[in-house]
Amino acid sequence: MKRPIVEVASIGKYTPAKVLSNADLEKMVDTTDAWIRERTGIAERRIADDSETLAFMSKQASLDALSRAGVSPEELDVIVLGTASPDRLLPSTACELQAELGATNAAAFDIGAACSGFLYGLTVAEGMIYAGQAKNVLVVGGERLSRIVNYEDRATCILFGDGAGASLVRPVTDSSNRGVLSSYLKSDGRLAELLYRPGGGANEPPSEKMLQNGSYFLHMAGREVFKHAVKCMADACAQALDSAGLSRDDVDLMIPHQANIRIIESTAKHSGIPMERVMVNVDRYGNTSAASIPIALEEALAEGRVGKGSVILLAAFGGGFTWASMVLRW
Ligand code: UT7
Repeated sequence: MKRPIVEVASIGKYTPAKVLSNADLEKMVDTTDAWIRERTGIAERRIADDSETLAFMSKQASLDALSRAGVSPEELDVIVLGTASPDRLLPSTACELQAELGATNAAAFDIGAACSGFLYGLTVAEGMIYAGQAKNVLVVGGERLSRIVNYEDRATCILFGDGAGASLVRPVTDSSNRGVLSSYLKSDGRLAELLYRPGGGANEPPSEKMLQNGSYFLHMAGREVFKHAVKCMADACAQALDSAGLSRDDVDLMIPHQANIRIIESTAKHSGIPMERVMVNVDRYGNTSAASIPIALEEALAEGRVGKGSVILLAAFGGGFTWASMVLRW
């Protein structure tokens, strides 16, 4: 097995207090609590209020992660923020976060890899540290999807929620083999239009027509996305385990992207990992895209499901399509 060079030193999270339940959604669109639970496993999701911008939520999660790692904002070399719902199209939310944190010595940029954004960010951090370009890297996955979801479209609005997670990534600090054991990234841009926002960018700038046809909202071909998500995440898990020189039996906890309980169960089944060793919190947060893995990892640590020495398998899939995986020893 390879000796790790980079460690995920800490993790933090922020989730808004406001809850949007299935019962609330029953009053908004033609759906039922029973349908949502059965088809997605979701019971409720969190929704940001007006003051809970993506930069704000990311800052709270980051302060959590930084204090747990004992690192100050001034010590950060790089801030990488994965998101599909930036506060503004220009500048990056990472730059806004940098200003709010007072991380005056950092370079900051966003990553557009949708639900895979946090794992893409961790892998970029790993590479920059490996190349000697950075020591302390703050990696954030955050979303305010409630601002880009159409609450008249029952096929999408029942799924998504808001929140942020953050981690401090740095060179390994001890010789206990703690750290990133392997990572894997992949994309297929030919399938972009199965999960996308057609309007609002430079291709289709804001217009009266756009407001009428709702092209600035998130659009998704759910059934197609579902099939690809299972296949790609299962493949990503196999790739990351293989390059770490580990088998599925070595995994203490698998933390897949929290999109839908049926996707999670199918991915676990394809990967040969029993559900007792799979983290699930999609019931309480819905799909928070780039925030889902760090929020789930933070909760797994808080609940004692993983601790020092645990082998953790992370896997994500999202718009692009993008997918990714990582094996960590905590
Ligand atoms: O984060 C990565 C990206 N996203 C995902 O991974 C999400 C992937 N997709 C999914 O999770 C699922 O495909 C959905 C939850 C979106 C949909 O579940 P499904 O089992 O694939 O349902 P479906 O789209 O095949 O629709 C089945 C039926 C349809 O009715 P008909 O045509 O059979 O009469 C839909 O109109 O369910 C209907 N339907 C609903 N019914 C009640 C769709 N949404 C709802 C709803 N409530 N909210």
